[in-house]
Amino acid sequence: MDVMRIRGGTPLKGVVKTQGAKNAALPVMASCLLLKGRTLTLENVPDLHDVSTMLDLLACLGVTMERLGNRMTFSVPEEISWEAPEHLVRKMRASSLALGPLLARCGKTVLPLPGGCSIGSRPIDLHLKGLMQMGAKIEIRNGIVYAQADQLRGRRIYLDFPSVGATENLMMAAALAKGETIIENTAREPEIENLASVLRGMGVTVDTEGTGCVRIKGVEEVQGCRERVIPDRIEASTYVLAGVITGGEVTVDDIVPAHMDALLAKLEEAGVRFHVGSSSVTVFPVRRLMPVSIRAMPYPGFPTDLQPQMVATLTLANGVSLVEESVFQARFLYSEELNRMGANITIKGDTAIIQGVERLQGASVRAMDLRAGAALILAALAAEGETRIDEMVHVWRGYEASDKKLKALGADVALEEAEEK
Ligand code: EPZ
Repeated sequence: MDVMRIRGGTPLKGVVKTQGAKNAALPVMASCLLLKGRTLTLENVPDLHDVSTMLDLLACLGVTMERLGNRMTFSVPEEISWEAPEHLVRKMRASSLALGPLLARCGKTVLPLPGGCSIGSRPIDLHLKGLMQMGAKIEIRNGIVYAQADQLRGRRIYLDFPSVGATENLMMAAALAKGETIIENTAREPEIENLASVLRGMGVTVDTEGTGCVRIKGVEEVQGCRERVIPDRIEASTYVLAGVITGGEVTVDDIVPAHMDALLAKLEEAGVRFHVGSSSVTVFPVRRLMPVSIRAMPYPGFPTDLQPQMVATLTLANGVSLVEESVFQARFLYSEELNRMGANITIKGDTAIIQGVERLQGASVRAMDLRAGAALILAALAAEGETRIDEMVHVWRGYEASDKKLKALGADVALEEAEEK
C-alpha cells in the first residue's frame, strides 16, 4: 500500500509498543556472516522492508533463516558466497555492512558501492580506509569494491568521523583479525553496544568503554550465540512526537529511556510535560510548544534520524526555532512538503529556520525518504483536513505497521494503493 491518508486534528491517546531497532538489527544480522557452521539467534527483530532486504542478501550468500514471530535464527554453513548481489546493495546502503564480516571470514569479497540517497552522498571511504589499514587489498572498478585479505591484522585505527557503519564494519572485521584492534573516534550510538554484545556472545573480547574507543581482540573462530535487538529509539521518539504535535497523551512502551535523553531534554526546554518510567515514557497534553534551537549530531547528541520529525513538530511552536543538521549534507528536502501544508520553514545552508504557525492544512505530499515520510505523518496528524502521503514505501523501510499503531492511538488513518501512473 503506497498511499497513506490521514485526517488530522485528533489528540492521540493511548499506549504504543516500540519495535526492535532497525539500525541495531541490520548490523547484528550481518554479523552472522562471521560464523562457520554455526547459528545466531536474535530476539525482537522488527518486521521491516529493510530487514527483509538484509534477509534476501544473507540468503543470496548462503545463510538459511527461520522466523518465529520476532525471533530469527540464522544458520550459516561452512562455505558461503563472498559476492554481494548488486541489486540488493543498490537497494539498501546497509548491505555494505557485509563487507567487514565477509572479508574477515572468506578472505575476499566483491561488493558494489552503495548508492547515494535523498539525504546526501553516502560514501564508505572510512570503511575501506580502516580495512586497508588492517591489511586488506582493495580496488574499486566500475563502482564495485574488490577486497582481498589472507589475514586481517589488528592495529590502532582512527576514524576521521564517528561513522556508525564504519565502526560496525571494522568491529566485525576485527573479530577475526590477528591480535588487538583499537578503533578511536568511533560512533557511540546504542546500536554499537548491541553489536558489541553479539560479538562478545560469539566469544570475542570487546571493550567499548562507551567513550568512542573500541578495543577488540580477534579470535580464530567465532561461536554461535543468542542476543536481543534493542528497542528502536527513533521509532519510539517518533511516537512521542506524535503525542506532542497532536496535544495528546501517549505512552511509548518497551524503550530504554536513556537512549532518548537528547529528545527529552529538548522537549522539556519546549515546555512539554512527560513522565519517564523504567521502560516507558508518557507525554501529557501541551497547548503550544515554545521554540528551541537544536543541532543534529552523532550520539549522544540530538539524532539526525529524528531531525525531520522534530522540525515538523516545531512548525507549530510559538516562535522561531533553529535546527542545524551536522551529519548529512541534504537532510532538509522534506521542508518544501511541510511548507505546502502551511509551515513556514526557510533553509539557510545547514540550518532550518522554522517560524511557528498557528495551524497546518492537509495537502497531497510525497515521502522522499524514511524519516521525511515520518515527518509528514506527524504534520498530517496535526493538520486540519485530510493529507495524502505518497511513496509510503520509504516509511515501511523503518516503521513497522505504523498505520495500525496510529489507529490504536485514535488517529484517522487509511491506506490505499497508488493509482496506476
Ligand atoms: C547509520 O547510517 C544509520 N543507518 C542512519 O540511519 C543514520 O542516519 C546514520 O547512521 C547516522 O546516525 C543504519 O544504521 C542502517 P554514518 P550510516 O556512516 O552508517 C559520512 C535511518 O534513517 N560518511 O554514520 O550510513 C556520511 O556520508 C538511517 O534509519 C563518510 O563520509 O551513517 C554521512 O554524511 C538514515 N564516509 C555521515 O558520515 C564513510 O565512510 C554519517 O554517516 C561513512 C560515512
